[in-house]
Order: sequence, then structure tokens, then C-alpha cells
Amino acid sequence: MTPVVHFHDQHLPAASQSLCEELLAGLAASPKVCSPKFFYDRRGSELFDAICCQPEYYPTRTEEAILQAAASEIAEVVGRDATLIELGSGASRKIRLLLEALRPACYLGVDISRDFLLECTRRLAADYPWLEVHAACADFSRPMVWPDGLAGERPVAFFPGSSIGNFSPEEAEVFLDGLAALLPPGGGLLIGVDLIKERKILDAAYNDAAGITAAFNLNLLERLRREFEAEVEPKRFAHSAFYNAEACRVEMHLVSRCEQVIRLAGASIPFAEGESLHTENSYKYSIDGFRDLAGRAGFVPQALWTDPDALFSLHYLERAA
Ligand code: AVI
Repeated sequence: MTPVVHFHDQHLPAASQSLCEELLAGLAASPKVCSPKFFYDRRGSELFDAICCQPEYYPTRTEEAILQAAASEIAEVVGRDATLIELGSGASRKIRLLLEALRPACYLGVDISRDFLLECTRRLAADYPWLEVHAACADFSRPMVWPDGLAGERPVAFFPGSSIGNFSPEEAEVFLDGLAALLPPGGGLLIGVDLIKERKILDAAYNDAAGITAAFNLNLLERLRREFEAEVEPKRFAHSAFYNAEACRVEMHLVSRCEQVIRLAGASIPFAEGESLHTENSYKYSIDGFRDLAGRAGFVPQALWTDPDALFSLHYLERAA
């Protein structure tokens, strides 16, 4: 029997046009920028999944180890029968580490990559037949609403993987503010946040030897070709990633290997040799730095878990009354 997933297509039908406008605005800016959300077409989601298994990319395995070790403590603070909402659910793998301990009334996966979301939530529904599974295809960086008909006593948002780090601290505060507005007082947020650490570890994590992160970065240009019919040759760009200690962030760029012009939706965009398209920031926080930020958005810390090397942190916060 096909597993049942309640699907909610939130914003996407009309979005393609505005996505293109957003891309053009970033390419017209100086320096050129592109939101990291454009990484996540199907191929990009698969490449990100592969990044998570690279030996240099410590965040995934470290967070998974924390989740595994802390599952029963997390269940104690979160409580049973919650409405568990995972933002950027991707492969819905981390949630599996918590489901048996948490026994939520329902799970909602929210992701921008429609087919990948459907496939992964269907697998989840098949593996956990007792769980009511919902999927919403949505861009959670934009204002959103929870779909109707979710079972459960209390919404708890799950935002793992330090995806919060892909917002600037100002954007992160606005995002958390919006999230707080969607939660009732006492509603929860379980969030994974990557910690500030040695440059060597960070540079390696975003420059894996197998070249998967490079392929992930360059797939953005492949996607522009596939989906937006852009005239661009990905081989004429190079992957670049480095830790900017002053800004506490890893930056990813696509650097033009030569002088060239790319074309998108009737616009011609010139690149000088060495000019960069800034594709991602991945901010790193101290524990107190993140708590301050979340506090300004109306969240009160309840519990915290880290690993023995203090590479990664998992916070449980509640919306203030
Ligand atoms: C999804 N996000 C938290 C990842 C990160 O580490 O910023 C995306 C990523 N970019 C390159 N490698 C992984």
C-alpha cells in the first residue's frame, strides 16, 4: 500500500517568475550575490545529502550524535504528542533519531525541493506507520503559515543542520521573530547551531577532497541552465570557500575563470576575470551569541546539548509567554 502523506503545496506555482526576478536582482548587484536557496533543486538536494557524508563535513555527524545521545532528554523537555514541524526537512533523516523517543502526534516536513520532499516524506510515512505525516512545499525564508489539519497538542519547530547560519544574523532574527509569531506561548524550537571554531576545520569542511561541495556550488549554474534556460558555462567558474573570521562566517563563491557574459531571461550579465558571485554565507555562533539572538526574537532557552569537542550545539527554546 502507498504510504499516505498529506501534501500542502504552499506557494510554488506562482514562484518561478519571482525566483527569476530575484536571481536577476542579485546578478545586477555589486558585488554579485545569489541566495543559497537556489542550490536546492533535486540535484542540489542530492549533492547536499552527499556533502553530509563527507569526512571533512563534521556538522551532520556531530549533530546526529548529539541527537542520538540526547533523544530521551529531548523527549523529556519537548513532551509527547507534539506537532513536530521540520523546516528544510531535506531527506528527513535526523528526525528519525527522535521519533521513537518523542512520539509526536504528527510530523510536517517543509522543504523547497518538491519531488525530493515528497519522496522522503513518503519513505518516512512507510517506515513509521503510526505517525501522521504531512509535507508542505514552501520557501521557509518567506513568511509562511502552518497548513490546516495538523494533529497535536503543541507545535514544536525542528530546524537542524545549522541552516539558521545561512541567514545573516539580522535575517536570522527576523526569521526567528516570524517563527515565534507562528507558535503559541510555550511552543518549542529545537535548533541546531554550528559553533565558532578553528579556521582549519571550517575551511576543510567546505572544501572536501572529493569535490562534492564544489559540485554543489557549481550545480547552481547547471540549475540556471536547466530550469531558467540561462546561457552559462559552469566550467568557466571555480568553487571558492573560506572562513571569514571577522564576520564569523564561511563564505562560498563562484569565481569567474575568465572575462565572460552570461545570459538570463533576456539580460546580459558581464563577469570580469576573477569576479565572484557570492552564493552562500554560513554563520557560526557562540552559545551565548545565539541565545542573545534568539532572545531578541522572543525565545527563552530551556536546554542545551553539545558534543565533547564543542563543534556543534543543539538548543531547545520556548516562545516566551
Ligand atoms: C544547509 N547549510 C546549513 C549548509 C552549511 O553548512 O551552511 C549548506 C552547505 N554549504 C556547503 N556545504 C554545506
